[in-house]
Amino acid sequence: MMDRVRAFTVLGIETSCDETAAAVVRGSAPGPGEILSNIVLSQIEAHQPYGGVVPEIAARAHVEALDAIVEEALAKAGIGLTDLDAVAATAGPGLIGGVMVGLTTAKALSLAADKPLIAINHLEAHALTARLTNGAEFPFLLLLISGGHCQLLAVEGVGRFHLYGTTIDDAVGEAFDKTAKLLGLPYPGGPNVEGLARRGNPHRFALPRPMLGRDGADFSLSGLKTAVRQIVRSENWDDDARADLAASFQAAVLDILIDRSAAAMARFRAEFPGADTFVVAGGVAANTAIRNALTGLCAREGFETKIPPPRLCTDNAAMVAWAGVEHGQLGLFDALTVAPRARWPLQDAPVGGSQFSGASERGVG
Ligand code: KG4
Ligand code: ZN
Repeated sequence: MMDRVRAFTVLGIETSCDETAAAVVRGSAPGPGEILSNIVLSQIEAHQPYGGVVPEIAARAHVEALDAIVEEALAKAGIGLTDLDAVAATAGPGLIGGVMVGLTTAKALSLAADKPLIAINHLEAHALTARLTNGAEFPFLLLLISGGHCQLLAVEGVGRFHLYGTTIDDAVGEAFDKTAKLLGLPYPGGPNVEGLARRGNPHRFALPRPMLGRDGADFSLSGLKTAVRQIVRSENWDDDARADLAASFQAAVLDILIDRSAAAMARFRAEFPGADTFVVAGGVAANTAIRNALTGLCAREGFETKIPPPRLCTDNAAMVAWAGVEHGQLGLFDALTVAPRARWPLQDAPVGGSQFSGASERGVG
């Protein structure tokens, strides 16, 4: 555990997908931290007619909303820019137009207020959220399940990730969203499938569970979506069976997540004797059935489960601000020249900021 250093107060900005968000967080590693404000503006209505996120619409909506959201976050926190220790923003991965809006705004605020800039990897922000909410100590085993990612990793520290397994095709959130479309449910798919599944019979349809029992901790989910499609298109498909299919789909996802997580737990236990924290993060971790199933697995395997509350599993800026707190306390700041990145694997999450280590190019911090 690192020595306790002075608490940091950080403004976080998140614009990598379809949420425009700003938050102020105060705290010290390893947490928990204090969320002084957490404003999230969802663009659901703007994208709903298209059945998914339209990058150009998202970027425009971020431009229109972000200034007011940042003001609101500062006002709710009861502080001004001068009270901040740093300004943090998601710099990737994500839809590049949106990421540019958030990062550029953070750069402008950083320059205007003479506060250091911190460029955050969105996945690292998800990964560290359990420290903000629960004070999870390193190392921990992480299951990261979001719209674009499905990974098991050992997390040893800020920027220190060891990949145990990843999806070889679709991410879990993607599987939920595609299944939702096949079932005729509106965007965003995940929560709607979960809602429908609650009323359904999970044993009605026998769906595949790819990779179960395989060595390693990789996932495969595209076969599941294909099987759902075949059922929906079959001659005797009956719309009344939608809830049963949603429930059967979710049951298959649970089995896959449990099997792969159990395999990763065995490896983690061998590599980090004595460590027993299992963290679940990312939007899909908001799913109650998945939370309960993984909590049950942990109880059987002797792990302690740490899952942030649902509103901090889906995209938000408190997680970005918190990642900023952790970077700032380690002296990891970024230059104003730091570039947004559409792709940015977690294993490349740099220690020392994106390009510079120690302090920003202006020598602040
Ligand atoms: O982390 P997130 O908000 O954005 C990304 O970084 O991708 O995750 C969004 C994903 C979407 O695929 C959404 O359908 C899924 O998380 N999701 C859920 C639930 N809430 C959000 N999936 C299943 N059940 C939920 N309750
Ligand atoms: Zn996310």
